[in-house]
Formats: sequence, C-alpha cells, structure tokens
Amino acid sequence: MVGLGPKAPPSRKGSMTELSQDLLEQAKELERQLTVPASKLKEITNHFVSELEKGLSVEGGSIPMNPTWVMSFPDGHETGTFLALDMGGTNLRVCEITLTDQKSEFDIIQSKYRMPEELKTGVSEELWDYIADCLLQFVETHHPNLPKGEKLPLGFTFSYPATQNYIDEGILQRWTKGFDIAGVEGKNVVPLLKASLAAKNVPIRLTALINDTTGTLIASAYTDPKMRIGCIFGTGCNAAYMENCGSIPKLAHMNLPPDALMAINCEWGAFDNEHIVLPRTPYDIIIDRDSPRPGQQAFEKMIAGLYLGEIFRLILEDMHDNKPIKMFKGQDISALRKAYSLDSSFLSAIEEDPFENLQETYDLFVSKLNIAPSRAELEFVRRLAELIGTRAARLSACGISAICKKKGYDTCHVGADGSVFNKYPHFKARGAQALREILDWPEKKDPTEEDPIEVLAAEDGSGVGAALIAALTIKRVHQGNLAGVLHPENFR
Ligand code: BGC
Repeated sequence: MVGLGPKAPPSRKGSMTELSQDLLEQAKELERQLTVPASKLKEITNHFVSELEKGLSVEGGSIPMNPTWVMSFPDGHETGTFLALDMGGTNLRVCEITLTDQKSEFDIIQSKYRMPEELKTGVSEELWDYIADCLLQFVETHHPNLPKGEKLPLGFTFSYPATQNYIDEGILQRWTKGFDIAGVEGKNVVPLLKASLAAKNVPIRLTALINDTTGTLIASAYTDPKMRIGCIFGTGCNAAYMENCGSIPKLAHMNLPPDALMAINCEWGAFDNEHIVLPRTPYDIIIDRDSPRPGQQAFEKMIAGLYLGEIFRLILEDMHDNKPIKMFKGQDISALRKAYSLDSSFLSAIEEDPFENLQETYDLFVSKLNIAPSRAELEFVRRLAELIGTRAARLSACGISAICKKKGYDTCHVGADGSVFNKYPHFKARGAQALREILDWPEKKDPTEEDPIEVLAAEDGSGVGAALIAALTIKRVHQGNLAGVLHPENFR
C-alpha cells in the first residue's frame, strides 16, 4: 500500500516571474475561476451528502446509487479459479485469477487487448463480438485442453452506470467516458455478450457483472480490513461503499434484513447534473455542451482523466483566439484545435517538468502541438496545469468526505485506482490536503502520522475484485441464498 506521501507542494503562483502584465491578469482570472476554497469544498460536500441520500430514496436523484448485489466482504478464504474481463475506456483486459486458501493470496495471469477507438462509437454487435474474440483467444491459449462441456466462471467488469436487479444483470443507464454505441442504453448487456460468446462457442459462464469501483472496494478489503470505500480516478471517476439494506428505501419492497450489507455503486460522476453547487467555468460548460451526453456526468467532467487535457486545451485556444494576450501569437495552432487531442498525461508531464526553464514542457509543445512557447507562456501553461490538476483533486475529496460523513466514518481507509490517482503528480497530496480542510483535521504534529482518512493505492479491482465477487456469488448460490443473486433464467 502506498500512503499519501508528503504535504501538497507549494503552488507555482509566485514563480511566474516572466509574465507580462496582460498574461499575469489572465493567470489571475483563471486562478479565480479554477480555485476552490475550503468554504466551497464544505458547501459541495454537504450538498453531496444529501444527494447520496436522495439517490437511495424511492424518488431517486441524479446520483444513481446503484445496488450491486454484492452483499458481503470477502473473508480471505475464498478459493477457485475465475476469469475476469475488464472493459475499460482504453484497454480490454482478460485475467485469470486463482484464489488460494492462503488468506488474501492469489495468482494472476493476464492479457491486454487494445480497445479500438472506432468500437466506442460503433455498432453494438461489433463490440460484443470483439470482446468474445478476445476471451476466446485467452481461453484457447491458457486452457487448450478444457474438457468438453466445462465452462469457466467469469466476472465481467462493466464500468458504466447499470441497473442491477440481479448480480448477473446490467441494464445500461447511459454510456459515459465518450462511449456512444446506439441501441445499448436501456438494455441488459449480459445477454448481448452471452449471444456473442454462444455464437463463437466460448466456454465461459458469466457469473457476475461488476463495476470497477465495487471491484476495487472488495479487492482492497480483501487485504486491508480498514477499507470502507473503493474509488476510481481514471478516465472516469466514481466510488462504491457498503450500505446497510435498512438505509436503502428504494429496496424496502425486497424485505432484506435491515442490517444486511449491500455494496452501492454511487455513480457519483452524475453529482450536480442540475448545476446547483459546482463552480463551473465557461470551459466546463463547453465540454458538456460538445460531449455525446450533454447534461450528464457534471462532476466527472471536472475531475476525470478524459476531460483534464480537454479543459486545458480549450483554455489555451481561448487565450489565443479571444484574449488581448494573444497566446502563441503568430504560430500555427491547428494541432491545438483538435478536440480531445491532449490527455491528462500531457498535464502530468508539464507538472513533472524538473527544469527551471521548463525545457521538457517546451519540447512537449513542439513535438505534440508544433508550437514553440515563449518563456512567459511556458510559465503560464505550467500554472494552468497546476490549477486544473489541483481543482480535480480537491473536488474529488468532496465525494470521499461526503460518503464518510454519511456513514459516520471518522477514520478509515479508502482504496483508489485509476490513471489520474496513480500517475498524476501530487493528486494524492492535494486530495489529502482538501480532506483535511473539509473535515477540519488539526495539522499533523508528526508528518509520518496517518491521516484519519487515508486514501491508499488499491488492489486490482477489475481483476482480483471481479474474481472475488464471482467467488462470493457462487458461495451464496451454494448456500441457497439467492435473493438478487442470479437472474432466474440462470439458476440452472
Ligand atoms: C462510469 C462508472 C465508472 C467510472 C470509473 C464512470 O464514467 O460511469 O461506472 O466506475 O467511470 O471507471
């Protein structure tokens, strides 16, 4: 486990020595738009708590708060061999996980397949056929002698908002993260994948459909009993936690024991779709307007990796086109005009540039965008990356604080995964600083001391987490505890 590390670094605010008056004024205006002070973080968190409650109510709200039918934590003694399929935004990963009887230990083999860009906005059957082909290839490579008729159990990590009346069902509420495949929203994706598996005779039995956050929660709790929340800060962002069934009014009709547990996939990316509390800039409004699903995922669009580079790009374009400073004056900015051409790793690289003269940032602009920025422009873009990255980390802390407040957790561990969490510089430290401000923790006396709520690098949720959930599901079936477990068609 990796701790949060040192305190958030001091900001670059004071190191913009080369900036002209005009540029400095623009930087100040962006600072004003992108800085979220503690008072605002607290206001957002309080609203977040009530929206979490609303999502669990019969009336519902904009945060879906999807029950997942994952109803226990692993005890560390789960056993068996399971396949896990992770349909992420960028890659498709197939793993085989063997859970051993040794507490909290596992073996894993995995293969990655590229998720072709065109499939994300293509035709439904092509997507499922592609996935079935990858699974077939995996099974043929690793199980060449599988006895006829035997089927391998699969946990399918499908990380999009889905309604689950059973653990092996997932009715897609809406695509997120730039996916836009017609004819899938409103449908249960399990039979769609099963049809492609059957057509290609892939010897696999789909046991559970899992969100990546639920997988993260379960995989992290497998090795750390203090884990209470699983989060993803990657291409998209979201969290899952365990709720008591008695606190889920929308499930009251199922008469589940009030103290039974239910993992809730919050789908918090949808927080504040009504635009009540988040401090949106004109650039956030453009991102939303030009996205495949305007009006959706308001919180995610300010935080997740898919959008950070685009916010940065839109701001630079605006600085060039519309502001008196005429950023990159006289240069051809056609490469910068291409939507979504910069991903969050571009911002990471800028924030990580170790050189005082920002040589690496300069080289990056030349190679990627064909733009040669002046020294002052380099300082400006560095500050901009910092503002965007800091806002994302601070807003993320509101979601974590809200779940902790709702559940009354004064201390716990939160397992986090995803490219932004793992790779974006200072994301963890900035998030920890924001948690401290929101929750009014006193300053640490000893820097090595744990924070009351620590956000730690999670175990592999979409692999190990999916396998554990498949194992827990099979255990429940064997115990005859079928409430919400399997779709009646799959009882056989
Ligand atoms: C999806 C969630 C997912 C998150 C992180 C969001 O766009 O709606 O289901 O957990 O991305 O992958």
